[in-house]
Amino acid sequence: MEVIIQSDAKMIARIVADTVQALLARKPAAVLGLATGSSPLAVYDELAERYAAGQVSFARARAFMLDEYVGLEADHPQRYRNVIDHDLVSRVDFAPNAVQSLDGLAADLMEMCTAYEAAIVDAGGVDLQILGLGTDGHIAFNEPGSSLASRTRIKTLTAQTREDNARFFGGDIDAVPQHCLTQGLATIMSARHIVLVATGRGKAYAVHQMAETGVSAMWPATILQHHPHVSVLIDAAAASRLQLAEYYRQTYANKPSWQGL
Ligand code: GLP
Repeated sequence: MEVIIQSDAKMIARIVADTVQALLARKPAAVLGLATGSSPLAVYDELAERYAAGQVSFARARAFMLDEYVGLEADHPQRYRNVIDHDLVSRVDFAPNAVQSLDGLAADLMEMCTAYEAAIVDAGGVDLQILGLGTDGHIAFNEPGSSLASRTRIKTLTAQTREDNARFFGGDIDAVPQHCLTQGLATIMSARHIVLVATGRGKAYAVHQMAETGVSAMWPATILQHHPHVSVLIDAAAASRLQLAEYYRQTYANKPSWQGL
C-alpha cells in the first residue's frame, strides 16, 4: 500500500487523473471501477476538464459501479446510478451502456448481483478501481463485519453510515435507505490497481486503521493490505493520525518520476 499525502483535493485529483489518462492512453478499452460519494468528485471534475480539452477519451472504455441503495426510485437524485451520470458519465464520452451499475430495484436482487459479478469477469476484470473510505472503515458499502471473502450482495447499512450520508438526503437520516447492494471485498480485491481517495479530518482515524493496523473484518478497508497494487491518496487532515506520515512523505518526495502510481 503506497500512502501519498498531498496538500489538497485538487492535487490528489491531478495525480489520479494522470493515472486514468495514462491507462486509457495505453489501453483505450480499459475497464474502470467508479465510486460515488464526495471523495472522488474532484477527480471526476479533473477528468471532465481533460476530456473537454481533448486530453482523454472514454469512448472505448467500460466501467462498473461499486454500490447502490436498495429501493430508491429510478429518478431519485441520490440513486448512485444517477449520481455517477451527473458527476462523470454525462460529462465525458462513454459509449451508451458502457457504464454498468447495480440495480436497487431489481425483482431478484441476488440474481442480479450474481449476474453483475459475471459481467465484471466477462469484461476482463477491473483495471483501475477508484475507491472512497467510510468513517467506519467501509469500502463501497462493505460495513464492519463484512466477510473478507465477500462477493456482490445485499447489506444493511450501519447507523454511522446512514448518519454520514444523511447530508445527501437533506439531513434526514430516515430518508437514507436501510439496505444497499455492494461489490464484495473479494470483488474489489480482484481489480488490478486500486486508488483510494480520502480527505478531511473525519477520515483520519479510518485511514490510520486501514494502513497501520491488523487486517480485520471490523475495519474492512484493511483487506487492501493484501493487495499488491494500492495507491492511497489523502490530504494532510486525513493523514493527521498516521504513525508513519513522515516516512510516507519522504518516500513520495523521492519517488522516481517514471514510476507513476
Ligand atoms: C459511501 C459510499 C462509498 C463511499 C464512502 C465514503 O457510503 N457507499 O462508496 O466511498 O461511503 O463517502 P464520501 O466519499 O462521501 O465520504
